Parts: sequence; C-alpha cells; structure tokens
Amino acid sequence: MMDNFDFRNPTQILFGEGRVADLDSQIPADARVLVLYGGQSAQRNGTLDEVRAALGKRNVVEFGGIEANPRFATLMRAVELARRENIDFLLAVGGGSVVDGTKFVAAAIPFAGDTWSILTEHGANVTAAVPFGTVLTLPATGSEMNHGSVITNDAVKAKLAFMSSHVYPAFSVLDPTKTYTLPQRQLANGVADAFVHIIEQYLTYPVDAMVQDRFAEGLLQTLIELAPRLKEDDHDYAARANFMWTTTWALNGMIGAGVPQDWASHMIGHELTALYDIDHARTLAIVLPSLMNEMRDAKREKLLQYAERVWGIDTGDDASRIDQVIERTREFFEELGIPTTLAAYDLGSEAVDAVVEQLESHGMTALGERQQVTLDVSRRILESAL
Ligand code: NZQ
Ligand code: ZN
Repeated sequence: MMDNFDFRNPTQILFGEGRVADLDSQIPADARVLVLYGGQSAQRNGTLDEVRAALGKRNVVEFGGIEANPRFATLMRAVELARRENIDFLLAVGGGSVVDGTKFVAAAIPFAGDTWSILTEHGANVTAAVPFGTVLTLPATGSEMNHGSVITNDAVKAKLAFMSSHVYPAFSVLDPTKTYTLPQRQLANGVADAFVHIIEQYLTYPVDAMVQDRFAEGLLQTLIELAPRLKEDDHDYAARANFMWTTTWALNGMIGAGVPQDWASHMIGHELTALYDIDHARTLAIVLPSLMNEMRDAKREKLLQYAERVWGIDTGDDASRIDQVIERTREFFEELGIPTTLAAYDLGSEAVDAVVEQLESHGMTALGERQQVTLDVSRRILESAL
C-alpha cells in the first residue's frame, strides 16, 4: 500500500524558447538582486547578457565562480556579499551546481550560527530563506523544481545534502535552447543522473502505486529513447525540450510521493565525488549496476517489473531476467560514454576502504529503502564495481 503523503510543489515553471525575458514579471521591480553563476559558460553563450537585459533597471549585484560540486567556502563569500549589499532576491543562472549553491546561499543569509550545520543537520534547522529563481542551463539534477541541495566542503572532505521547504525556487526558466552549448559529456551526465533519480524512487519494493510506477517507467523510457537523439544533433529543439522536462520530472517530488525510496547509490556516489572529484552522474553509473546485483533478492519484484515494462525483457526464468536487465542497464551507461567500474578511474581496493570509512563517518550505515545497505553491503557493492 502507498504511504500517506502531502504533495505540494510551489515552483512556477516558465518553459520554452525566449522565456528569459519573462524574468521581469517574476521578480519584484524594487528587488535588490544577486545573480549567481558558475564559470564561463553562461557568459559565453549569451545567457547572462539576456538575464541582465531582462532585469532592466533593478539593483543587480553579480557573483560568479561557483564550481561544479559547489564549495562551501565559495558560497560563504556569496553569503557575505549578499548580507553586505542587503540583497532580497537571488537568481541562479547555470546547472545544478549553481542552483544548489544558490539554495544554500538563500538559506544561509538569514541563518544565525554556524552555516555548515545546515548541511550536517540536513536542513532540519533551516527556518527561513531569501526568495530566489533559476535560469537552468543544464538538464540533469531536478534542482530547479525541488527542495534539495548538495554542497561540498573541502576542509572536511564532505559532500552533504540538505532539504528544506524554504528552498523551493519561486520560479525556474527552462529554455531548451540554453542547452545547445552543452558538451556531450554533460549531456550524457544529465541523462544518467536523471535516470538514476527515477530508479532511486522506483526500484525498491511494490506498494501498488500505479500512477508513480507508470510515470517512472514512462520517464525512463523517454530517456532511453532520447539518448541517441541527443548524441546526433546539437540543435534538435524537440529532443532538448523533452530532455529538459524529463529531468525536471525525474526529481520534482511527483514520482516519489507515497512510495519507498532508495538513494543508496547517491549516498555512496557522493563519497566518491568528495574523495576523487568524479562527476556526480558518473559515480552513479559505477554504483548502480553493482547495487542492483547485490540487492537482487530485496528488489526482486521491482527488478522483474523494470525488466519487462522498461526494457521488454520477457524471456528466461526470474534470475536470468534480472541478470539481463542489470546488464542492459550497465550497457545503457556505457553507450552514453560513461564507464561503470572504479578501474576506469584508476581506483582500486584502497578506494573501497576510503569510501566505506567516509560512509561510516557520515552516519551512512543503514541506507536504502529498508535500511539494509549496511557498511558491509556498501563494501560488497564497491568491491564488485572494481
Ligand atoms: O561552470 P560553468 O562554466 O557554467 O560550466 C558548467 C560546469 O562546468 C557546465 N555548463 C552548465 N551549463 C552549460 C555548461 N556548459 C556549456 N553550456 C551550458 N549550457 O557544465 C558543468 C557541470 O555543471 P554542474 O552544474 O556541476 O552540473 P549538474 O547540473 O550535473 O549538477 C551537478 C551537481 O548537482 C548535485 C550534484 O551532486 C552536483 O553537485 N545534485 C543535486 C541534486 C538536487 N539538488 O536535487 C540532485 C542530484 O542527485 C545531485 O546530487
Ligand atoms: Zn543525482
């Protein structure tokens, strides 16, 4: 049976080509705005100039240099700037890292006390945030329509997530043409990240949640169908539009309402990024196939459903179907150009020890939909991903 749930997603979506101009109607005319962005991409592809034009005569301050896997120290500089300038509205222009970073800045500006505790408490201590919107340039994380954020702190080698209903974006501009400048590597990462977001909320155990299951299966199939199209043509608007909307839906709360969720691949993956700076999506491709195999008994019914409904695997006995679908999932990542082993990153058994140690120090000792992914299980997952 489905669990009881509340569902409310307050983020307004402004979808389609040319929608950056509509920022003007979304942000109060007298707002003091801090525009946050990453490296050079938003400037180079003209998005920042479009944003500046749309903001018109408002008081605008800019903060660039938010890294992929946004860093606590960098973001704290933005917090200080915002406090100094009496900023009352934030605008993120970029990918998931800039959006996540902006969420942290939004929560940290009014926060009294040690702002790193927002992460160690996973957002439980957040009681307010400065309002913000986003202009998304990289479809992948779903951060543009959810209340999660993941921040890295180099000083303590930690990559931790926080969640708070105060950090839903007020609005997000999703203009598919903003993705035209993405390199293939980032497109592939986006497909893989969204794919695993869906899997984390779907591949658990059945609770007779027909809507959530069918939506999840449809989103997975959409990504499978889009992957080759995204490789072919840089300016296929329809492909980019569908891709963008799929990645948003993969993690906007809808398919996860009332159903068990896993997230072990993400938690193990975050440690791999914190230690070895591997792209987020790539860590998931290392962990997931191996986790599916390790958890094949606990996930048996959903693995069989996934095999049949998503991949059309309907021959062989149960064990063979599960073998086939794990292999097919691994191939999907490899076909995207994303390796699925630790060896591909020159990592060996020392990395297994290091990740398990990190998991322990972050209290990640009972992960998964039934808390069955203990440190021993995480170790086995990583060992079979060598
Ligand atoms: O820094 P710039 O120059 O902007 O370049 C970025 C960056 O190098 C580039 N890029 C972005 N848009 C572009 C572009 N290049 C050309 N054209 C464009 N239109 O892409 C690179 C990667 O950007 P990043 O924002 O880091 O990627 P992504 O969107 O995949 O975000 C990854 C981060 O999100 C977190 C991850 O852990 C990671 O830190 N996640 C956030 C989640 C959430 N809030 O719900 C869930 C996810 O599971 C994930 O953990
Ligand atoms: Zn992810």
